[in-house]
Amino acid sequence: MGKIFSVLTSGGDAPGMNACLRSIVRVATSLGHEVLGAKRGFQGLIDGDFKSLGPRDVSNCIQRGGTLIHTSRCEEFRTEAGVRKAAAQLHARNVDFLLAIGGDGTFHGCVELGKVWSGGILGLPGTIDNDLWGTDYTIGFDTAVNTALEYIDKIRDTAESHERFFLVEVMGRHAGFIALEVGITGGAEEILVPEATTDLQAVCDRLCAGKAQGKTSSLIIVAEGAYPGGVKAVAEELKMRSGNEYRLCVLGHVQRGGSPTAADRLLGTRLGAFSVEAALEGASGKMVGEVGGKPVLVELLDTFEKKKPLDRWMAGLVRRFST
Ligand code: F6P
Repeated sequence: MGKIFSVLTSGGDAPGMNACLRSIVRVATSLGHEVLGAKRGFQGLIDGDFKSLGPRDVSNCIQRGGTLIHTSRCEEFRTEAGVRKAAAQLHARNVDFLLAIGGDGTFHGCVELGKVWSGGILGLPGTIDNDLWGTDYTIGFDTAVNTALEYIDKIRDTAESHERFFLVEVMGRHAGFIALEVGITGGAEEILVPEATTDLQAVCDRLCAGKAQGKTSSLIIVAEGAYPGGVKAVAEELKMRSGNEYRLCVLGHVQRGGSPTAADRLLGTRLGAFSVEAALEGASGKMVGEVGGKPVLVELLDTFEKKKPLDRWMAGLVRRFST
């Protein structure tokens, strides 16, 4: 007998979420099951705002950024009453499985829901931050890195022409994965991340030494959460210590938009299909992810309770590249 899947996207949107949704809908329906999309993430569960999704409803979306079924950061779902309302709505529609595409906040919500709803729950890693333990990559990270890089290359042109120091803030309140990859591939002199304490005097000394050795411009990538007060505070502090002027650019939400890269479309597609198969085989309370290109199932709790480490070796290489 056909089962009923519900799917939602929650938290910050990430390019590739639509590819994942499409994969879930097409695989589940081709196997004879039904899919109900919940609008605006957990808010849709609470409000009972579901839409039946067939193969044609996900046509022409694999290349689109954002999420067709919308998303939100749902405050009500942080309360026990909100979680119970959501569980009642799922129960009323005889939903068998919930597939939730999102980041750590989404998975936290899934764990709470699992305490009061007996259906199968799987999380799919969809966040540009790539900060979930247990999967090599999250859906949206590769696109965000490439988008940021496109702008950083442009900034380099003007930085070089004017022989300036430039600070570029990329997303990542608690994680420096975007900053690290963008910094390495953009040829940055410095990369500041939340995972490491920033010694601004040391940064200042290295930048000044670079200038003395003939560097005409320097690029400093700053993750959102790397320094209290953000990139503006870093610029003021560096100016005070060195007397040099620093131009700023905050890339912001452009990093969350745009057409997903092939890597994100593939990851979303593979994980979507895998989640349907895993749910039907009885997996629950897990995230579907990939390690070394192979699908894995990871306890949802571990994905946010364990801290995914930055690649220290790669972070250490930045100094060598910027000589
Ligand atoms: O979690 C994804 C993310 O884009 C973070 O990198 C960023 O810190 C945050 O969301 C911004 O959230 P909002 O769009 O709600 O301001």
